[in-house]
Amino acid sequence: MYNIAIDGPVGSGKSTLAKMLATRLGFRFLDTGALYRGVACYIKYKNIDKIDEQSINKIVNELTIKIKFINNIQHVIINNLDFTAQLREEDISMLSSQISNYKSVRDKVLLLQREFAKENNCILEGRDIGTVILPNADVKFYLIADEKIRATRRYLQSVSSENISYEEIFNDLKKRDFDNMHREIAPLKPAKDSIIIDNTNMTIEECANLCMKYINKNKPFKD
Ligand code: DC
Repeated sequence: MYNIAIDGPVGSGKSTLAKMLATRLGFRFLDTGALYRGVACYIKYKNIDKIDEQSINKIVNELTIKIKFINNIQHVIINNLDFTAQLREEDISMLSSQISNYKSVRDKVLLLQREFAKENNCILEGRDIGTVILPNADVKFYLIADEKIRATRRYLQSVSSENISYEEIFNDLKKRDFDNMHREIAPLKPAKDSIIIDNTNMTIEECANLCMKYINKNKPFKD
């Protein structure tokens, strides 16, 4: 199977790029952040007040996580509950970042991601795809962009659905990036063999065109 890894901080355009490349290549696309978000939704649903290693390990033990594609939309189903509609809520963004520090959570979703990559020509996007999940991916991209631009992108995405200010989004983004980059397990960083793309001044099409050039260079499959 042909596997493409895309990593990068919040708002760097990973999902939009991954979707675009998946359409162009006819590949599957997996939003791995949605798995952490799904676990966060379940924790919220269970109303767990104290989040620590012990309570997280206990809950992770009882989780069955499934990914389903319905009309080409990725659904995250945990213990038979479909949390897809709640995944993008702002409190879930923060909670998913927090719980993604725990080894038990990461171990739980690691196998799911590797299975998916084994079974599909696909693009996985997240924080540790090139470094931990798929160290042998065929191509690895690491996206970066100016933090104000990234916050603006997030703001424009959320403005129609949530009552949240640009400043709040900017501060959340900085905190999440810092936490993701400085955690002990699988911190966000470029893999040694990843192609780093700064898309601050690029449209998503320009970014996708550039990635396609790299993919076409080393692709062992036919269109
Ligand atoms: O990509 P996202 O914002 O939907 O991800 C939500 C959180 O999940 C993010 O703050 C960090 C975590 N995450 C991770 O630790 N590793 C990944 N591969 C994907 C996401």
